[in-house]
Amino acid sequence: MKTKRLLNLTAAMVLLVSLTSSTPLVSGDPGRRVSMTLVRRAAALGAFCLDGSLPAYHLDRGFGAGSNNWLLQFEGGGWCNDIASCVDRSKTRRGSTRFMSNTVVFTGILSNNASLNPDFYNWNKVRLRYCDGASFAGDTEFGNGTSMLYFRGQRIWNAIILDLLPKGLSKARNALLTGCSAGGLSTFLHCDNFTSYLPKTANVKCMSDAGFFLDAIDVASNRTMRYFYTQLVSLQGIQKNLDTSCTRAFYPEPSLCFFPQYALRFIRTPFFILNSAYDVFQFHHGLVPPSADPTGRWNHCKLNVTACNPHQLDALQGFRKDMLGALMNFFRNSTRGGMFINSCFDHCQSALQETWLSPTSPRIHNKTIAATVGDWYFGRRKEAKEIGCPYPCDKTCHNLIPASTTDSSVSNAPGHNSRGTLSRSQAELNYILS
Ligand SMILES: *[C@@H]1O[C@H](CO)[C@@H](O)[C@H](O)[C@H]1NC(C)=O
Ligand SMILES: *[C@@H]1O[C@H](CO)[C@@H](O)[C@H](O)[C@H]1NC(C)=O
Ligand SMILES: *[C@@H]1O[C@H](CO)[C@@H](O)[C@H](O)[C@H]1NC(C)=O
Ligand SMILES: *[C@@H]1O[C@H](CO)[C@@H](O)[C@H](O)[C@H]1NC(C)=O
Ligand SMILES: *[C@@H]1O[C@H](CO)[C@@H](O)[C@H](O)[C@H]1NC(C)=O
Ligand SMILES: *[C@@H]1O[C@H](CO)[C@@H](O)[C@H](O)[C@H]1NC(C)=O
Ligand SMILES: *[C@@H]1O[C@H](CO)[C@@H](O)[C@H](O)[C@H]1NC(C)=O
Repeated sequence: MKTKRLLNLTAAMVLLVSLTSSTPLVSGDPGRRVSMTLVRRAAALGAFCLDGSLPAYHLDRGFGAGSNNWLLQFEGGGWCNDIASCVDRSKTRRGSTRFMSNTVVFTGILSNNASLNPDFYNWNKVRLRYCDGASFAGDTEFGNGTSMLYFRGQRIWNAIILDLLPKGLSKARNALLTGCSAGGLSTFLHCDNFTSYLPKTANVKCMSDAGFFLDAIDVASNRTMRYFYTQLVSLQGIQKNLDTSCTRAFYPEPSLCFFPQYALRFIRTPFFILNSAYDVFQFHHGLVPPSADPTGRWNHCKLNVTACNPHQLDALQGFRKDMLGALMNFFRNSTRGGMFINSCFDHCQSALQETWLSPTSPRIHNKTIAATVGDWYFGRRKEAKEIGCPYPCDKTCHNLIPASTTDSSVSNAPGHNSRGTLSRSQAELNYILS
């Protein structure tokens, strides 16, 4: 029973992965193809992908005034929390560099075009490939004579940093650690460790995109995400890599520190939290996991918000309230923090040009994500904390599933494509959730 539900979660990820390889890119700037660097020294550090292959990253060199600035982005892509799902994953690009494409396209916050990414375009930019299945945080292995799995995410993180330091990272003046989804979660877990490698004089900050996974109670009153993460922490030997002040405070449930909402107050580096209040991944896997809806009463609502009944909309509003509640201390008390919590049905908004910065990109108080993050990073505004009004009031969303937008003027705006406020295409959904 339990295993089945967990497999549902990972199986969903695998399915999405398999659909994505030929996904066309988002409209507008085609972005730049950047080739892969295998981390050869990783072998000596015992840092391997699930299947034993070498880990990798993609580096696009900075230029001009950005030459000494570094932006690192953790790739996302779910997790595997039991042997069977990790064995499956080890045979895909989510668990092995052997199955990864040799180049990736840098867009959005990774774009090198000043008009598309005004604050970070000329920085050194690195995409850390995700192949450990535990947000770069595990450190153990599994072997039974016939099968071998490496749970070495923490070592991969360390090996990549050690590889980048002599390439200029050790002399960084400005640095930003970021990532989306499972990679957004990595950002919380490794933020202070990142700071410890850089010069004391450097301006170091971290930004999580769609990584604020809530310790949610699902619609069947179960803590599905907590159960899933507890399994994951145990399987992949994560506990010893969690913040020790946090695990002490949360004894006897130290694995709770894998949740950003509990780890957050122990992070000393300035932090920015970018998230949709109705994050589609969390909607489908945290609030309404398949196990919590065996009869499929949510099927229509999960794929089309305008088909949700009032009771279901209440549950979604409750989820948003819980997320804002978990962020309230940070919102009120963090002096150097920033946030952008909009009310969209989306997942990951910094890595795609359309949502990071474009004529129709999401806004709160008429500010784009790129402008809010840039203002926060460079301290151009005192307060960089934006919270959007609840569904259905936000007219600027790029929803992954159809949702109501009562304003017709938006869809007639110049440069607006029909996907904009209605929904992104299925291919794009797959691209983003993968
Ligand atoms: C940068 O992006 C703008 C807007 O899409 C485009 O017009 C311009 O050609 C791009 N510049 C370069 C150098 O690619
Ligand atoms: C080792 O583990 C794999 C994956 O769970 C399993 O398929 C295999 O049967 C196991 N082999 C032994 C000898 O237990
Ligand atoms: C950062 O993490 C590495 C392991 O990945 C560890 O060796 C190092 O001590 C950590 N640094 C700090 C300051 O915690
Ligand atoms: C809640 O989770 C437990 C443990 O996984 C499971 O046995 C139970 O059936 C679930 N209850 C509901 C209502 O989904
Ligand atoms: C979404 O649901 C609404 C209400 O049930 C329906 O009118 C609309 O056609 C649906 N949209 C799509 C794209 O399925
Ligand atoms: C802000 O911090 C103070 C002092 O630590 C604390 O008493 C208060 O509850 C915090 N505010 C929120 C909203 O958590
Ligand atoms: C929103 O900002 C744009 C510039 O980014 C400006 O042209 C427009 O007038 C603003 N709209 C409102 C309602 O303030």
